[in-house]
Amino acid sequence: MKPIEPARRIRDLPKYLFAEIDRKKKEVASRGVDIISLGIGDPDQPTPPHIVEALRDAARNPVNHRYPDYEGSLPLRTAVGKWYKDRFGVAVDPATEVVVLIGSKEGIAHLPHAYADRGDWVLVPDPGYPVYGIMSAMIGAQVHRMPLCEERAFLPDLGAIPGEIAASAKIMFLNYPNNPTGASAPREFFEEALAFCRERGILLALDCAYSEIHFGHDVYRSIFDLPGAREHAVEFHSLSKTYNMTGWRVGFAVGGAAVIDAMLKVKTNLDSGVFGAVQDAAVAALSGDQSCVERTRAIFAARRQRVAQALTRMGFRFRTPEGAFYFWVRVPEGRTSAQFCMQMLEKAGVVVTPGTGFGPSGEGYFRISLTCPDDRLDEALGRMQKFLA
Ligand SMILES: Cc1ncc(COP(=O)(O)O)c(C=O)c1O
Repeated sequence: MKPIEPARRIRDLPKYLFAEIDRKKKEVASRGVDIISLGIGDPDQPTPPHIVEALRDAARNPVNHRYPDYEGSLPLRTAVGKWYKDRFGVAVDPATEVVVLIGSKEGIAHLPHAYADRGDWVLVPDPGYPVYGIMSAMIGAQVHRMPLCEERAFLPDLGAIPGEIAASAKIMFLNYPNNPTGASAPREFFEEALAFCRERGILLALDCAYSEIHFGHDVYRSIFDLPGAREHAVEFHSLSKTYNMTGWRVGFAVGGAAVIDAMLKVKTNLDSGVFGAVQDAAVAALSGDQSCVERTRAIFAARRQRVAQALTRMGFRFRTPEGAFYFWVRVPEGRTSAQFCMQMLEKAGVVVTPGTGFGPSGEGYFRISLTCPDDRLDEALGRMQKFLA
């Protein structure tokens, strides 16, 4: 018998960070420890009722029981266009400049298929959402990590990208408000990044999953009101964090017609559209009353304040997040990120994420997610304090 082997691209793949943490969490929980997770960015609040009701009604519509269109329903793409106009003052053509995604992860993960060939360079932030680099490497592209350092307010130094890499790069991923650092980026930085990409023929892929989770700093503005952006940029949005819809799997990408067309060439061959009833519910989310988003922001703002106070009391070094719902905190001297997080899990039953899970520049940091109910968050902070003592 000859054993079968998975492809090298799978064998060589590092384990997906959150799957690995989940495994360790289960192991500790099986010993009877009450685990509190501040590890994953999955909002604890329910989806607003008007969106759930829209899904219930739409699920009864037989039209939604059939294969959905690949590019997304026209009503949803139109709702995206209106949302862009209302939110950013930017006009978008729903027919050619929007594609609906099975969560923004789908589009992000598949973008390298559309724009990078084997051996091409893809520029990714480090630390950053792991999917950018892993999925680029999976198709044989080379990954150049752009360090995000505290001294530069977690913005990459584009001038530090080696000339020969910059000259042959195909995609630059950026993400603000940023996971995991909680940083936002000023408008001038996006202008600089766009100019850099335009000069070199790089597609600027902006991951806007947290665009609506902000605390008043550098609130995200679409890049598409800058000249030339449509040919050189794409923006990924998600309903996951904005409307507490992580389980629903719906997001969208907006870009020039040529970029959307290239993404659709991949998508039509790789997967299918989003369940029609979920798309109808997404229309209700984007077109309905947006006060639910303000409530979500207020919940995170209150938790942010609480956690900032507690971390200060405990003597941690950190920057209070400007957006997204994460604290990026310095590990106390003398321990690696992984050691510190494992000890926190073992001794305090609290899951936090080691910075290295987001790239080598994450060494020396750990990430706290605010997506945990208030009483459990307080309990976790209390346990952390005891653990440190
Ligand atoms: C930075 C970032 N981008 C994209 C995503 C993907 O979100 P979704 O696929 O739910 O839209 C996440 C999810 O955690 C994220 O943190």
